[in-house]
Amino acid sequence: MAGEGLAVEVAGLKLRSPTMNASGVLGMSAPLLKRVYDSGAGAVVTKSLGPAARSGHINPTVIEVEGGILNAMGLPNPGIEGYLEELRELKGEGVPVVASFFATTVPEFQSDAKALARAGADALELNLSCPNVGGEPGMCAADALSVERVTRSVKQVVQIPVFVKLSPNVTDIAGIAVAAEKGGADAITAVNTLKAMAIDADFRRPVLSNVTGGLSGSAIKSVALRCVWEIAEVVKVPIIGCGGVSNWRDAIEYMLAGASAVEIGTAVMNHGFEVYGKVNDGVTRYLSDNGLGSVSEVVGLAHKR
Ligand SMILES: Cc1cc2nc3c(=O)[nH]c(=O)nc-3n(C[C@H](O)[C@H](O)[C@H](O)COP(=O)(O)O)c2cc1C
Repeated sequence: MAGEGLAVEVAGLKLRSPTMNASGVLGMSAPLLKRVYDSGAGAVVTKSLGPAARSGHINPTVIEVEGGILNAMGLPNPGIEGYLEELRELKGEGVPVVASFFATTVPEFQSDAKALARAGADALELNLSCPNVGGEPGMCAADALSVERVTRSVKQVVQIPVFVKLSPNVTDIAGIAVAAEKGGADAITAVNTLKAMAIDADFRRPVLSNVTGGLSGSAIKSVALRCVWEIAEVVKVPIIGCGGVSNWRDAIEYMLAGASAVEIGTAVMNHGFEVYGKVNDGVTRYLSDNGLGSVSEVVGLAHKR
């Protein structure tokens, strides 16, 4: 699997390759995430878990649009307690696990972070950015002070690395990333989906039951790449690029913009699980064709103009 030079270290977490799955796109069962790992990913990311089980929005929640998909799942999940067994199963198989989670209050963020760390998560990814849950965590990612406060509160109660996943639906993502770093974030994941919608001309109404949703896939790559670029200009912590990566060239572009690793979500729907191995192989070839010894030598190169 992973070629030489592919190994990366993200916030102290040693990964055999710079690819991971993006939270939620594939659901969350341990066997599915194990397949992601077996396909070459350096670590797997769980779907975002909340303090309590929730069923999410009613259908339609996912539709195909030009260049990607539009979803308004409403964060359906079994709740953290309901997922811990699955997480332990993954750990039992030797898979590095990044546990994604969300909450609505600081005490909830803290108790959930502790539960996930106790169950063996190798890192946490704070989902502060989901645009689909009215008045809840989606709001947090737009407010620098909230991002800093929540990040700090989680960092106070766990020893494992904490990634903070940001929303592109803000005017100044670099400012929000700085707030996360001030709160102690060990890495920034950029980005979640772009707020969007679809309207059916025949039925003359919005297609998603939630009216608006989040756009993902190649349609958002240029926006997400710009976010990574802007964040890389102002923070020192590692960045994990996410949004529309579907081949090695996309991954390299993110690294040149400043990402140490990438998460791949929607592309799995079109390209299957093989996408992780193919991206890894392409990155390995790029390194050797360009006389580079490791991914870390590529990170941020495009800023040195
Ligand atoms: C169906 C679906 C479900 C998602 N669920 C989550 C989630 O639970 N937590 C989260 O942080 N992001 C979630 N996302 C966002 C993705 O993790 C990712 O940030 C976004 O899709 C952009 O990456 P991509 O273009 O590679 O898919 C979801 C995206 C999709 C399409």
